[in-house]
Amino acid sequence: MKPPVLLTRRIPASVLSRLKATCSVDLHEGDDPISHDDLISRVLGKQALLCLLTDRVDREVLEAGVDLRIVANIAVGYDNIDVAAARARAIPVTNTPDVLTEATAEFTWALILAVTRRVAEGERLLRGGTWKGWALDFMLGMELRGKQLGIVGLGRIGSAVAARAPAFGMSVAACSLEAMTAPAPGAVRRPDVEMMTLDRLLATSDVVTLHVPLTSETRHLIGRHALSRMKRTGYLVNTSRGPVVDEDALAWALGERLIAGAALDVYEQEPRVYPGLLGLDNVVLAPHLGSATTETRTAMASLAVDNVLAVLAGRAPLTPVAG
Ligand code: GLV
Repeated sequence: MKPPVLLTRRIPASVLSRLKATCSVDLHEGDDPISHDDLISRVLGKQALLCLLTDRVDREVLEAGVDLRIVANIAVGYDNIDVAAARARAIPVTNTPDVLTEATAEFTWALILAVTRRVAEGERLLRGGTWKGWALDFMLGMELRGKQLGIVGLGRIGSAVAARAPAFGMSVAACSLEAMTAPAPGAVRRPDVEMMTLDRLLATSDVVTLHVPLTSETRHLIGRHALSRMKRTGYLVNTSRGPVVDEDALAWALGERLIAGAALDVYEQEPRVYPGLLGLDNVVLAPHLGSATTETRTAMASLAVDNVLAVLAGRAPLTPVAG
């Protein structure tokens, strides 16, 4: 008999058929996330749960999943899963690192360019029919060449963002998680990246981009105090997790022109966007598209399936999460 597994959203057909060849798949159809109640009732009797960042896999879900042998998140971030509760039940949790690094780094650059060159603002104006034509002083942005990119969180994605900076003539500063207050000894990983404290990075960077996981230490890492430390000409970009930024504080800083602009791909309560941000022209708002390429989303689903198949076959998971 094939082991029963719960899959909370459609995945590419080729990947799904690989899962179906070995497992009996209970698939939550439709475009909306599975409800928490549905998740609890359908996880019962399943040996694997393949889930998304939109699914809250808490203690209740894990308690209901008495037969679970693995929780495979189709995302690199796993703040949606109570990893400690899973560990207490000896259920491995896996994520999808590496396969989405390049796509997310590319999208970060899309946002950096969009906000500093006012692409979305310009398009809104044009579609609104109020463009009067070329003018020397019309919609001026900030040039990247010669500026400093500040990377908060120099992990896989942060490093891939850093690697693209020389193409735009930017110097790179970074602080890693363990170096939020003081540079960790030996923290310099690339000769072309200057490691510094978060405070100094905020005060000296022209573009600050966030690449930390969401944890109790990084929740609201960027609030009123941090935003006040930034240059008035500086830009903030967030492709990590929404709650790393205090949206109320950001709306305040943008409204008061304490910073020049921001570009967000993630939000505190997705899919809700903080109303105070929606009316501001100096913020670019994207609907969580960081890893959204056909290649990457297929690779993410495939890696999650590989993790499930390995564990159900009695092997070790390929990409277990730390922590
Ligand atoms: C997307 O946000 C991910 O964590 O994979």
